[in-house]
Amino acid sequence: MNYKIALIKGDGIGPEIVDEAVKVLDRVGVKYGHTFDYTRVLMGGESIDACGVPLTDEAIAQCKASDSVLMGSIGGNTTTSPWYKLEPSLRPEAGLLKLRKSLGLFANIRPAYLYDELKAACPIKDEIIGDQGFDMVIMRELTGGLYFGERKTVEENGVLKAYDSLTYDENEIRRIAIKGFEIAMKRRKNVISVDKANVLDSSRLWRKVVEEVAKDYPEVTYSHMLVDNCAMQLVKNPGQFDVILTENMFGDILSDEASEITGSIGMLSSASLSETSLGLYEPSHGSAPDIAGTNQANPIATILSAAMMLRYSLNLDKEADAIEAAVKAVLKKGFRTVDIMSEGCTQLGCKEMGDAIAAEIQ
Ligand code: NAD
Ligand code: IPM
Ligand code: MN
Repeated sequence: MNYKIALIKGDGIGPEIVDEAVKVLDRVGVKYGHTFDYTRVLMGGESIDACGVPLTDEAIAQCKASDSVLMGSIGGNTTTSPWYKLEPSLRPEAGLLKLRKSLGLFANIRPAYLYDELKAACPIKDEIIGDQGFDMVIMRELTGGLYFGERKTVEENGVLKAYDSLTYDENEIRRIAIKGFEIAMKRRKNVISVDKANVLDSSRLWRKVVEEVAKDYPEVTYSHMLVDNCAMQLVKNPGQFDVILTENMFGDILSDEASEITGSIGMLSSASLSETSLGLYEPSHGSAPDIAGTNQANPIATILSAAMMLRYSLNLDKEADAIEAAVKAVLKKGFRTVDIMSEGCTQLGCKEMGDAIAAEIQ
């Protein structure tokens, strides 16, 4: 089969990590008889530089005309890059938010899994991690909440005042809750819904709707947890989590925390799904301007995101399995990028890690 992939390389380490994911995908294509046709799509800083805006209508149309979108990361150093002198709607991140909204990508899946091979890179004590390690999925709502509420800065009586509003309607909560329970049914059948219902109305509505949805999934055990407690529990006892179901901003923050206990944020893949098969696949991390151009970035999160793309958008399960097995095999051989390096292992650059993973797919 032939598949049309919109490819957003983005900024910073984006082009480096996307090139490695393409290398691995092309190897999968050769092995399983598929071809992937890539259309380069501009977004973020590279689009600002080329077109004056972080995402053009043409770029959105190119994504919509594809089977799926694979992305690196966008943005620059938020204190020094000239992109951050522009008004907020013209900055790199505005492009990403617009793309998520335009493609209806309300469900963001971020799997945080501790490979046995990376136990030495996990900052949590062995006695907490135990033999089981942890294997969780963060189901993050992606097109509502604070990210998309009304926002303004005004001067009132000579004092500057900034507003960001957080709204959710019950339908937005219901559709992500259903996704969370559906994914739990394919896993260990446990959902922990994370909110701040002791303070926020939006969280109280979240709880009410999650409770209604839970009634349709009697096999799934579920509970509620406040977000501050969840942040603490993630390092105290990460093994307790199967599916974490949460709103946009909480999911953003908790997923960075969860990534670090897997060894590095460079390991955390992500899939952003809509009501159709069109999805956006990108690592959970940013453009890492501090290491851009140095061949030090870990490409595994992007390579695993490409595997999620094969699984969720293209229905190519065995091909996705092959990528995941290749990543595991390379870790087993002791190959590491610097962010997950530990004693006795062999350090590789970004390119060499991509080569090693591709070489496992024969
Ligand atoms: P970041 O995730 O880019 O970097 C945080 C730290 O993690 C840095 O030290 C970086 O070197 C390291 N890191 C990140 N990815 C890595 C990888 N693959 N391998 C090894 N180390 C890695 O977060 P930040 O510095 O807060 O943000 C930088 C820029 O990225 C900002 O402009 C931000 O808005 C943007 N951003 C974009 C996305 C996205 O495109 N989805 C996500 C998060 C941040
Ligand atoms: C992420 C990023 C984005 C977010 C930014 C770049 C808008 O941090 O994908 O996690 O907050 O969603
Ligand atoms: Mn983030």
